Amino acid sequence: MSRKILLTSALPYANGPIHLGHMLEHIQTDIWARFQNQRGNHCIAVCADDTHGTAIMLRAEREGITPEQLIDKTNAEHRKDFEDFLVKYDNYYSTHSDENRALSEFIYKECKAKGVIKTKSISQAYDPEKEMFLADRYIKGTCPKCGAEDQYGDNCEVCSSTYSPTDLINPKSVISGATPIEKESEHYFLSVSDYTDMLQKWTRSGTLNEAVANKLAEWLDNGLQDWDISRDAPYFGFEIPDAPGKYFYVWLDAPVGYMASFKNLCDRTEGLEFDEYWKEGANTELYHNIGKDIIAFHALFWPVMLETSGFRKPDGVWAHGYVTVNGEKMSKSRGTFIMARTYLEYLNPEYLRYYYAAKLGNGVEDLDLNLEDFVQKVNTDLVNKVVNIASRCAGFVKKSGGILSETVSEPELYAHFTEAGAVIAQLYENREYAKALRQIMALADKANEYIQEKAPWSLSKQEGTEQEVLNICSMGINLFRVIITYLAPVVPNMAQKAQAFMNLDNLDWDASTIPLTGHSINKFKPLMTRIEKDTVEKMVEATKAAAEAEAALTSASSTTKEVTKKKQSNKAEADSNEITFDDFVKVDLRVAKVIKADHVEGADKLLSLTLDVGEEIGERHVFSGIKSKYQPEELVGKNLVLVANLAPRKMKFGMSQGMVLAAGEKEFWILEAHEECQPGMKVS
Ligand code: MSP
Ligand code: ZN
Repeated sequence: MSRKILLTSALPYANGPIHLGHMLEHIQTDIWARFQNQRGNHCIAVCADDTHGTAIMLRAEREGITPEQLIDKTNAEHRKDFEDFLVKYDNYYSTHSDENRALSEFIYKECKAKGVIKTKSISQAYDPEKEMFLADRYIKGTCPKCGAEDQYGDNCEVCSSTYSPTDLINPKSVISGATPIEKESEHYFLSVSDYTDMLQKWTRSGTLNEAVANKLAEWLDNGLQDWDISRDAPYFGFEIPDAPGKYFYVWLDAPVGYMASFKNLCDRTEGLEFDEYWKEGANTELYHNIGKDIIAFHALFWPVMLETSGFRKPDGVWAHGYVTVNGEKMSKSRGTFIMARTYLEYLNPEYLRYYYAAKLGNGVEDLDLNLEDFVQKVNTDLVNKVVNIASRCAGFVKKSGGILSETVSEPELYAHFTEAGAVIAQLYENREYAKALRQIMALADKANEYIQEKAPWSLSKQEGTEQEVLNICSMGINLFRVIITYLAPVVPNMAQKAQAFMNLDNLDWDASTIPLTGHSINKFKPLMTRIEKDTVEKMVEATKAAAEAEAALTSASSTTKEVTKKKQSNKAEADSNEITFDDFVKVDLRVAKVIKADHVEGADKLLSLTLDVGEEIGERHVFSGIKSKYQPEELVGKNLVLVANLAPRKMKFGMSQGMVLAAGEKEFWILEAHEECQPGMKVS
């Protein structure tokens, strides 16, 4: 029987563009939904923009537009980004909607009626000029621990200590520059601790990855704090019923946005019933795909809200890790904080879909988008392996009339391919995409081996082999069809083109168990082109340029306060001994063979070294302070490591053209003189 499934991705904030970090989640969701539908299940995917909160209010103010204008503009951009990445939502909605207001109020009222809402007066930082309460990130001051200036309200970026904003020395509101005061106000709380037992069971019922469940168990064992669900005006959000001037905290109505998006879809879709998916006891499936940073909201607070108000809880909260680029956190200055739109201007979305899938498991580990590996992997797997199968066979079939053979020449090989489908399907089901793709690529290797071995291109040169060549190539096309069926959730456009080429009505998973015989195919058109390294570099450059332009814009309009802030952070950088990866790659390290070593007249510590640094660089002369450790004779003929691009330095005894590296106190860094180690070689 076909399953009924509702799947969601976390709702992106409406105050900024979609970047490649977000895309991981949406691609992961989309692949799963497409897979389920291809298998004959009914999987609906919904998402929305998360539109409320202080950040959005302030951003709109800065841009001189209303929050509504800001969120409408962003919503259109987000939708377009997803569409162009081939991420299909059945509904992409907004938390600033009537449905969301009604559902949020309903849940709140139910919680209140059941006594799960409490009020408490709390004291908080307040900006007397702007007349608003300040969250920690809107306060800056001097770190109470290390004295670093201009640190955020809750943690110091210099010494990493955490504290409360009241501990900051000389605190200032980031918004107005005023000194915050302490002010009391009444807040609304959800007493989540009343539900500790329920949460203990629910988090252990297979809803979460084990590592995540363990982390939550720690929190649960330590006792849960009541959760503050209200914010005072001014705030962009929903006002709490019967509490003028109090608003739902954005994280209260955000997950309700999943329901609201679905409700909105139901209201315009024949036969789709809200209750069938959300009412307590519903026997449909519900999953939330989210990042590891927002687990508490989905696995503690959200189940409590649902339980209290008579809704079902999700069957799974899937948490994924963070995207890093080239091994590091995405960074604007390095050009690796890549926006979805920038990517799309340069590259095919299916490259990224494939690469992410090829690295995704179902755990919370981070995923590194290594740009070199990205080019390599996509070209090798998709272009060289997969497309190649079809392109090598298509021409011969076309030549002999465009109709595949009446028989399958290697039924066992074909059976091997279709049998692999069960394992691959199970891997997709468990969100083990990397493992699934590895299986699929193993099949692609097998198909290529088969074609390689039969070599229809040589066979066709002999007389009377036409039927045999057709048989081989028909077999190849059939294998290709199975592979592209399995790959379709990941590369839907490519699959669609392949479908058109093979003249098929669909690429349903099970359809591929029966091979195509006596079936006419269409003209082969290239399914995917290679990624060029240059294009990737251009995208990185464009990202850098955009970041610089943005920085220039902010600094042009920045106040003296912000300029001091910049200076301060530059100083912090200079104080630490760290160099960035960019700094590091600038260092040109080369193997250098010592051809001559001499004492230097009048110098106690120096030796004069003449080095052979290979053809490109030639000979170099350096002075090195290693006289106390080595006799000149013992150095001749040895390989050292030279920093080849150090600016020449005039010393008392002459010019030094570089610097050699020494390891530790006593020993020079001398490379084993094996054959591969030639002067001039780059050391990495
Ligand atoms: N608005 C909240 C979610 C509310 S869900 C009811 C939010 N928005 S977000 O825009 O900051 O993040 C949206 C999703 O993108 C989150 O699941 C988050 O983990 C994910 N990611 C944001 N940056 C990411 C990476 N660099 N890598 C992977 N996922 C990342 O949180
Ligand atoms: Zn500090």
